[in-house]
Amino acid sequence: MSELMEMLIRRGFLWQSFEIYGGMAGFIDYGPLGNGLRRRLENLWREFFVINERAVEIDTPTVNVEEVFIASGHAESFTDVAIECKKCGKVFRADHYIKEKLNIEADCTIEAVKEIIEIYGLKCDCGGEFGEPFHFNLMFTTSIGPGKGKRGYLRPETAQGIFIAFKRLLDYFRGKLPFGVAQIGRAYRNEISPRQGVIRLREFNQAELEFFVHPAEKTHPQFKRYENEVVRLVDKFDNEHEITLREAVERGIIAHELLAYFIGKTKRFLIEAGVDEKRLRFRQHKDDEKAHYAADCWDAEALTSYGWIEIVGIADRTDYDLKRHMEHSGEDLRVFVQFKEPIKVKKLKIVPDLKKLGPVFRKKAKAIAEALERMDVKDANVEKVEVEVDGEKIEVSRDFFSIEEVEETIQGEKIIPHVIEPSFGLDRITYVILEHSFDKDVVDGEERKVLRLKRWMAPVQVAVLPLLSKEEFERVALEIVEMLRNAGIYTEYDDSGSIGRRYRRFDEIGTPFCVTIDHQTFEDRTVTIRDRDTTKQVRVKIDELVNVLKELLSSEKDITEFGEVFRG
Ligand code: ATP
Ligand code: GLY
Repeated sequence: MSELMEMLIRRGFLWQSFEIYGGMAGFIDYGPLGNGLRRRLENLWREFFVINERAVEIDTPTVNVEEVFIASGHAESFTDVAIECKKCGKVFRADHYIKEKLNIEADCTIEAVKEIIEIYGLKCDCGGEFGEPFHFNLMFTTSIGPGKGKRGYLRPETAQGIFIAFKRLLDYFRGKLPFGVAQIGRAYRNEISPRQGVIRLREFNQAELEFFVHPAEKTHPQFKRYENEVVRLVDKFDNEHEITLREAVERGIIAHELLAYFIGKTKRFLIEAGVDEKRLRFRQHKDDEKAHYAADCWDAEALTSYGWIEIVGIADRTDYDLKRHMEHSGEDLRVFVQFKEPIKVKKLKIVPDLKKLGPVFRKKAKAIAEALERMDVKDANVEKVEVEVDGEKIEVSRDFFSIEEVEETIQGEKIIPHVIEPSFGLDRITYVILEHSFDKDVVDGEERKVLRLKRWMAPVQVAVLPLLSKEEFERVALEIVEMLRNAGIYTEYDDSGSIGRRYRRFDEIGTPFCVTIDHQTFEDRTVTIRDRDTTKQVRVKIDELVNVLKELLSSEKDITEFGEVFRG
């Protein structure tokens, strides 16, 4: 186990789920500190992708009726290729096993896997041979209601809940594009052989934004904010670029401004959360790698001890999902888009001859005339047409109508919006933040482990420490704890062990500031604040403590700007 993982478990960030029953791969518990960090990440995400956009957040069920995933294509296509050992019965995800044993990036098709197994004589770790590769659907099934019940699935992505509610959402936005809809919540994938610890989970947390736009307007009013952002890109041909987003769009490396906008915004968000810019890149999916719904996809990848791992997928899902749900539900999910200027079009129109229809069709003549007027006609020379009146199909020959060319004014058209989706895996990002923040240095001649989390992200933002375990020191310390908690600062109190050991404990979990009550506190109502990264200390008045800490926590300012440097 890595030093970091040992610390995360010992200090209460992450635990193996179901530990007392032997555990189960692909599930983790968030302990108090891990949970705090992930919640902070969620809030930061909300600031970036909901509050800062024309977007709203909704919350839909994690158990879905099967119709949803039949329509979305997941029931058929959300599969990985698996291989099972004939001797020991172990099952592996084929592409991962091939990568691990042969260092080959295999296509995820049955044929490709079969060929590689044959050519390389690939066997199981136990020496056994593999049977025929097969498709394994990653969705967990369940049954809704008693008895045979109704088949349901645990959602493998939060996105579908948004597509299903599209009609209501369109009303909410008064029928106007573009708009975004976000959802943060659990997703479930029955991963075949999750062996990468916290990276590949069977129950995990996604934060997704579905940004609906007119298909011809794949841009964003705020693109300017990110156009000069320099990004590290690996395109689908494995070419590497270090260029601005504007240049990437102009050179056609990124297909359009909207994808580029979300790549830029994702980069800023990840850095703000604590991902190291030098260990971050964006990689485009190769054509055979894309999900069944995606026309184009860029992954944000972070370099970790597991290698480069995907932490965010930014996909152009086109109109795939809405179209499929329209076909399967029969609902019209199109959006009426008004033209800037109404347009005039020439059109053929049937003009019924009532004088001739009357004597022949009698009572039905009026209804036939109306049906003729409603008909679309493309050919001015058509000899006869068929209309339906009260369920009866009636053939009407050219003697009963003429065809005229008319000019019509059209105000707009109905379109199926396209959707661009930045999809974030919060668990992977949380882990990357922890790995990128984990550091060691030497303080007072002793090695120290320190988690250099962004100040605002730290699960414990301030620790309050009485220098001595004496009643009067503890009383003032507890008063300060209450004051800071009332001000919304995540604060902990600790009075056990030497002050040096206590500082180390809080450095290890990433607490940016320690407040210490010492002898001088009783002379002038001041305390010291110690900075985790520099270990510098300053003295500030208790009355000013809340304001100083709030400013320090929400900035990267140096602690020495806020008080007299304390040496003692
Ligand atoms: P991978 O190729 O690693 O299986 P994916 O391409 O299937 O990932 P997406 O379908 O794009 O992933 O899902 C969106 C995001 O959800 C990913 O960027 C990732 O952060 C997260 N995610 C996906 N699968 C898992 C998982 N099994 N455990 C944890 N997070 C996951
Ligand atoms: N919504 C993208 C994915 O989870 O695959």
